[in-house]
Formats: sequence, C-alpha cells, structure tokens
Amino acid sequence: MNSDMLTVALGERTYDIFFGEDIYSLFQEWICRFYPGGSVFVVTDRNVASIYGEDIRRWLTGIPHHVHAVAPGEEAKNWETVQGIYTFLAQGNADRDALVVAFGGGIVGDLAGFAAATYLRGVPYIQVPTTLLSQVDSSVGGKTGFNLPEGKNLVGAFHQPRAVFIDHTFLRTLDERNLRAGMAEVVKCGLAGDRTLWETLCANASRWKALSDREWHDIIRRSVAFKAAVVEKDEKESSVRRILNLGHTIGHALEQAAGYGKLLHGEAVAMGLAWEAIFSRRLGITPQEVEEKLHVLLRETGFVLDEPGLALSAIASAVGMDKKRAASDVAMPIVTAPGSCVLKRVPLSLLRKELPAIRAEIRRRSRETVVGSMEEGTPASPVRTITMADVCWDQGEKEMARRIIDEILSREPENRRALEWKRTHREGQGAEAALAAFLGAIAKEYGYDLSGPH
Ligand SMILES: NC(=O)c1ccc[n+]([C@@H]2O[C@H](COP(=O)([O-])OP(=O)(O)OC[C@H]3O[C@@H](n4cnc5c(N)ncnc54)[C@H](O)[C@@H]3O)[C@@H](O)[C@H]2O)c1
Ligand SMILES: [Zn+2]
Repeated sequence: MNSDMLTVALGERTYDIFFGEDIYSLFQEWICRFYPGGSVFVVTDRNVASIYGEDIRRWLTGIPHHVHAVAPGEEAKNWETVQGIYTFLAQGNADRDALVVAFGGGIVGDLAGFAAATYLRGVPYIQVPTTLLSQVDSSVGGKTGFNLPEGKNLVGAFHQPRAVFIDHTFLRTLDERNLRAGMAEVVKCGLAGDRTLWETLCANASRWKALSDREWHDIIRRSVAFKAAVVEKDEKESSVRRILNLGHTIGHALEQAAGYGKLLHGEAVAMGLAWEAIFSRRLGITPQEVEEKLHVLLRETGFVLDEPGLALSAIASAVGMDKKRAASDVAMPIVTAPGSCVLKRVPLSLLRKELPAIRAEIRRRSRETVVGSMEEGTPASPVRTITMADVCWDQGEKEMARRIIDEILSREPENRRALEWKRTHREGQGAEAALAAFLGAIAKEYGYDLSGPH
C-alpha cells in the first residue's frame, strides 16, 4: 500500500494522520494493534453509507462493530442527531474501551466527535474524512460540535481524535460542488501558510478537476501539514490558531446572511477570502499582485465571488456576529505575502464601512474576468483614507500609516484632517495618546460616541 504519515504533537493527545490509497487495510491494522477486543461504533451519514456501507462492513469483518447512519446535511447537525448517536452507543453497550469512528464529511466528524467527547465523559474516536473539506480541515484539530437554531456550532468541545485516515480516492465519488467547496479551504491553507502550495494551486487552477491522484495527495497533505502545525502551537484557539480563520470573518457573515444551507461553507469562505483580500489590500497590507492572483485563482476554480441577492446591510449586520458577542473589533488574519499571514485587530465598523467598496470591486473584477478585458478608468490603486492610516498606526505599522497620509496630502495638500493627523502623530508620542487619537479618528469618521460604556 502506498501511504505516509504525519504526527500532530500534542503531548498525551498526540496522534498520527495517515495518508494513502486504500487506507482500509491500514485502518484494520491500527485497530487490531490499539483496540484489540474493543467494539467499534461507526457513525456515518446516509449518503456515505449508500456508497461505502458495504465497504465498511467488509473492512471491519472479524471486528465487533455497529454502524449508525445519520441524515445528511447541515439541518441534521443538531441536538436530536447527537442524542441519536448517544442512543446508538448506549444500546450497543459502548464502554470506555469502545472506539467511535467518524466516517464521512465534516458534519459527521463534528457530530460523532462531539458525541465521543461527551459520552461517558469522553471515549476515543478516530476520523475517516470523506470530503475534501473534512480531509484538509475539519478532521484535524479536535473541534467538534453541533448547531442550535440560534446559530452554527454554538455547542461544542475540543476532543482530539486518536488517529485520522485520509484517503483521497474517496473524493472520486464526491460531487463537484462539494469538491470545489473544499478547494476554498485548500486555497486558504496555501495563502495563509504554505507558499509552495499556493504556487501549485495558481499554476494548476484551470485544471483542478483533472488533478492526478499524486497531485491530490500532495495538495491535501500540504494543507493538513499547515493546519496540524498551527494546532500544535495553539490547540484551543487562544491565539495563532485564529490564522485558520482567514476568509472566515466575511465568509461567516455571508454564510449567515444568505441563510444557513444556501451557500456551502466552502463557497462562503471562497467569497470571504476574495473580499478580505481586497479589504487588506485597501489597508495597504496585502500586496495588490497577491490579491489579484487570488481573485483569478478562485474564479478559475469556478467560485462565484458575490451573492447578488444579499443586501449589504444584511452582510454588515452579520459581520462579527458568528461568535455571538457584541465586539467592537475582531482579530483578523491578514495576508502579508503568499504563505504568510498576521493577526490584526480590526474595528468591525471599519470592515462594515468598507463592504460597499469591496463589493463594487468584486463585481468589476468579475465582469472583467468574464469579458477578459480591462475596463477603462478603473484605478487599481487602493483608496487611502485617514482611518486606514489610523488602523496601521495602531497596529504598529507607523511607516505605512505615514505613507498613507503622505499619499492623501499629495492628492489634496490642503486636507485639514490629514494635516492634523501629521501634526498629532509625531515620533515620541506616547502609546496612550496614539490610541486616543486612533479612537477619536474612528469616532469622528463614523459619528460614534466612544465616551460612554459599551
Ligand atoms: N471541526 C472543524 O474544525 C470544522 C472545520 C471546518 C468545517 N467544519 C464543519 O464541517 C461541515 C461541512 O463539512 P463538509 O463540507 O464535509 O460537508 P458534509 O459533511 O455535509 O458533506 C457534504 C456532502 O457530501 C456527502 N459525502 C461525504 N463524503 C462523500 C463521498 N466520499 N462521496 C459522495 N458523497 C459524500 C455527504 O453526505 C454530504 O451530503 C460544516 O458543518 C462545518 O461547520 C468543521
Ligand atoms: Zn472553514
């Protein structure tokens, strides 16, 4: 068998991720080695069971096992389905030696993982992801959970799997829409943390559906390696793991504003990546060339980068709401170069205010891609504003902030606010004064009263 392995080093929760074709025999070997005599409880969904049900049975021949197929789809990622999994485990007399196998896409992985995290205060589980999204993203990292009517993934637990078995040949039966959705997370991984992956994707964008087995293997492995490395540094998402949210601040807002189930998660993430790249380019951080390449890559992969029926007001009110907290800013991953990304705190009000300009640019670009020619009179350079300078200044990028102000003054030498900015942002100014100036400028720009409690 052709397989290889990657280890996620998390102390006593360390586990291996196996990659290969026909991972069945490897899986069998692993179970016999680590769970001799234990019972196996496979959780899958009905679609996956209809394709792989026979294989699962054949592959577990000789090992005591039970199989439970939940309804497919995001609507079934709920408490009732979790309860159904508890009943399945209880009726099969699952004890702490039982092994839960999440066999399916991200939904099955999140549900089965959550049930395993909580049943008997935690039983071991492994992941056998069968969609591209679950192979490159959800099966690694230990996030599990389900949705409430009030919002997505509102209940969850961190519970690391004991092993992950990734077989790219499962993708042969996956429909094109779901395959493409998974590509959004692959693009995210390349852009945020793996330049070689990014370059491979850009070079092969037009033939992504015709990738060879070897190419799929490499793309998936590189994405997983990036995610695993981030998870090793920050298992519980208290800091750097937020890098994995690249494209998700706006992506989640679009997903929520569209109404869950309308856009696939990956489709919303693809839009989020494109929108956020324009935002961070306008801030003067993401190089224009990178943002343009990303747009082309996503379009060539077949993503639609706007949802015309979605009102900007709906997107704006959903921005920052996915965590159900009244925050005034968000730690946003921002691309500085292909494969390199930093976390910046960005005022949500600024992000909201930028949405119309971002959407206008997305639309213009999409038209250009369709007609294959440049429109006249559409300046590509970022529109610099004083607020952007304030944000850069606050993030410690003082040179960038000064450049923005100088650009404004070169266009409008009499701009009073820019002149005032220059006067108040001299070297040696204390951090407190800089912060006060930053907040003051934001308040002025949006007409907010920052003096009262929030
Ligand atoms: N835990 C995490 O870290 C994390 C990360 C990202 C996303 N997620 C979650 O993952 C979920 C999305 O996962 P998904 O995109 O895999 O969706 P999914 O699990 O719904 O799978 C997509 C569809 O493909 C079908 N399917 C699965 N494998 C197949 C195969 N090999 N051949 C044919 N059909 C197959 C499924 O039945 C389903 O209809 C979301 O709920 C999201 O919140 C979790
Ligand atoms: Zn995602």
